[in-house]
Amino acid sequence: MPTLTIDGQEVTVDAGTTVIQAAEQIGINIPRYCYHPGLSLAGRCRMCLVEIETFPNLQIACYTRAQDEMVVSTTSERVLSARQSMLEFLLSNHPLDCPVCDQSGECDLQNFYMDHGQYQSRFLENKVKKKKAFPIGPHVILDQERCILCTRCVRFTEEVSKSNELGVFNRGSRSVIDLYPTKSLDNPYSGNVIDICPVGALTEREFRFKCRVWYLASQESICTGCSRGCNISLDYNGSRRAYKAGGRRVMRIKPRYNPDINKWWICDEGRFGYGFIDTDRIETPMQRTTSDLEPSDWDPALARVAETVKAAYSEKGANGVGVIVSPQLSNEELLACRELFVEKMKLTNVAALNPWEEPGEADDFLRNADRNPNTKGVEDLGYSGDAKAVLEKAAEGEIEVLIIFRHNLADGEAGKLLEKAKFVVYVGTNWNATAERAHVVLPGATHAEKDGTFTNFEGRVQRFKQALLPIGDSRNDSQIISEMAAKLGYSLPASADEIFEAWKGISLDELSGSGSSVDPDTAVQA
Ligand code: SF4
Ligand code: SF4
Ligand code: FES
Repeated sequence: MPTLTIDGQEVTVDAGTTVIQAAEQIGINIPRYCYHPGLSLAGRCRMCLVEIETFPNLQIACYTRAQDEMVVSTTSERVLSARQSMLEFLLSNHPLDCPVCDQSGECDLQNFYMDHGQYQSRFLENKVKKKKAFPIGPHVILDQERCILCTRCVRFTEEVSKSNELGVFNRGSRSVIDLYPTKSLDNPYSGNVIDICPVGALTEREFRFKCRVWYLASQESICTGCSRGCNISLDYNGSRRAYKAGGRRVMRIKPRYNPDINKWWICDEGRFGYGFIDTDRIETPMQRTTSDLEPSDWDPALARVAETVKAAYSEKGANGVGVIVSPQLSNEELLACRELFVEKMKLTNVAALNPWEEPGEADDFLRNADRNPNTKGVEDLGYSGDAKAVLEKAAEGEIEVLIIFRHNLADGEAGKLLEKAKFVVYVGTNWNATAERAHVVLPGATHAEKDGTFTNFEGRVQRFKQALLPIGDSRNDSQIISEMAAKLGYSLPASADEIFEAWKGISLDELSGSGSSVDPDTAVQA
């Protein structure tokens, strides 16, 4: 384990560690463009030059291995002058696009220019013209003039997605990044090249010109697209006015580094699958009066559910009410349901999984076929049996009241059974055929609008945090269950925090370590 000195600080690192990594371990961030910890080393941009005693020339910190007794300077006059020269070189043919570039505000050309450039331009020639802003896949736009040829995107397609769509073509100042003939950047992980491009050469089609990045806030969350539970940031602009005008509040999703789950990456389905947060939402409770569903206040809607449940309970006991919870619910909501429906009411017909659900596409990288974020949570919390048996009993009239959380059970065989159910309560976030078929509809909150945890397929309990206010009159499901319980004469906590603490013995805040996850082997048991 070599011990070296960087800017006067000693650090001991594992053999094989590079100088750029050793510097990071003591909080020194050496500027870089081509280096990315998830990709092979390329040594192309020369932005990370450092001075090392006994070396006659400056060395690139991303490629140079730390050695015992090395003495490194990242801030000497020679280093600062080299950085300025590299920036002058990289920007010599760069267009003046900042006012119209989506990367503006989070661009490493801008950032490093402010830190290390700030020179008077000596460039009198005409800039080399290249192809501007054209789609190279369903999600990505390439602007060749903005590219600094760091090759991160090329290495990503070679080493991570292994789809080999991109390459470097031509020589010298005419070099460009482009697609190989007949290729399109349409692999399931294509959006990651947008994140790793250090400049505005690769931008997101869905986000382009939608919002300046300095108007965005960011919240730590968990992707709900499959049971992997990739760690993400929700970038949002919480303007309700924009939402009411048909706009959206969540503007984009970015991967959040978690070494144990998704590292730096997420799949495109997870990245672009946030439309449901702002589209087709159930915004207010609804009650079927005659034949139509009509908006209602919470109190009368919950009172009607409670009265109907009590009547069914007194007529048929614990068999008269059926509940189908969902692997889309958080652990805290599942715990609240278990407490009310199983432990207090002792209902016999409680299920969670939908046997008709189509599996999604899976691969050996991140995507799992199970498209629910919390199937493992459902199993760990003791739910068993599937929706079919409960629906059959509802269709036969054995169950008088059926409460369905999130599932759409109105198609095919499930739909035929659901049609015969006497009284259906739907608790969910978005309109679907099941909500339209229900007698009472209670609007729940999406994961972007509440706190909670999901357990990924490996058993990692991971926290997601509230970014937005619940839309309209919607409420998080643990609050809905707590209020329903109160109307039935029981007392249950409504906050995710309280429920989690009672479950795991630690607060939700204590889950916020690296990647917001509890390792399955060290998780506090319920
Ligand atoms: Fe400006 Fe975009 Fe170039 Fe960055 S990448 S310097 S924001 S044009
Ligand atoms: Fe690097 Fe971006 Fe150019 Fe790809 S497009 S080589 S990531 S600057
Ligand atoms: Fe070291 Fe590019 S980051 S050469």
